[in-house]
Amino acid sequence: EETRRVGTDFEAKHVVVTAGGTREPIDPVRYIGNRSTGKMGFALADAALDRGARVTVIATVTPPRADRYDAVEMVETVSDMRVAVLKACQAADVLLMTAAVSDFRVAKPAEHKMKKQGENLVLELVQNDDFLLELSDDFVKVGFAAETQDLLDNAHKKLVNKRLAMICANDVSAPDAGFAVDTNRITILHASGGQEALPLMSKYAVAHEILDRVVPLL
Ligand code: CTP
Ligand code: CA
Repeated sequence: EETRRVGTDFEAKHVVVTAGGTREPIDPVRYIGNRSTGKMGFALADAALDRGARVTVIATVTPPRADRYDAVEMVETVSDMRVAVLKACQAADVLLMTAAVSDFRVAKPAEHKMKKQGENLVLELVQNDDFLLELSDDFVKVGFAAETQDLLDNAHKKLVNKRLAMICANDVSAPDAGFAVDTNRITILHASGGQEALPLMSKYAVAHEILDRVVPLL
């Protein structure tokens, strides 16, 4: 177990963290998902807690330390996550949006388990709205951009379009910085300009690096 860093700089602050990958139902037993395991989000939730924050976790997978947080809301779909985030952010100082949010959902999920019919299956998908855009700008919003190419260009567009204070860009094609591992290597892009490439470190250490940069924005 990694040595924990404790502090008081997030005392009286409400930090909302989303974690994990959303699941969009195809039928009652199947879903469209992604490889996110929630590890970066849970590391941020733990680090914020260790620095005195009140922490709300909105997750698609059960946090290993769920009992420690002030509130845990389990969600499945993007629609569920949207409702939970909009509600929690009414009284938030910081939103750390690590969740891998599905860009599409199945237009009409089947009511019963689907049976094979013919050779092919065509699913109609419709785009989900980006609920970050619905949030007010009077608190600190931090986004995450998992990319496999054009990392910094893509991340910078998201930073601007989504009106974020920071975005953490992450090349998930690297084996030590992607899904389901305990390490990460991010570049932080700031709305105020500039970018910082951090070395490989544990997700818990990355979490503190991110929180260090949130403090002056509070
Ligand atoms: N996000 C969100 N709502 C969505 C999609 C994404 O809130 N419907 C958030 C993610 O949680 C993340 C950030 O926006 O913090 C960037 O997500 P990403 O999927 O990289 O961005 P997209 O705008 O969906 O662009 P892309 O087409 O590259 O997937
Ligand atoms: Ca996306």
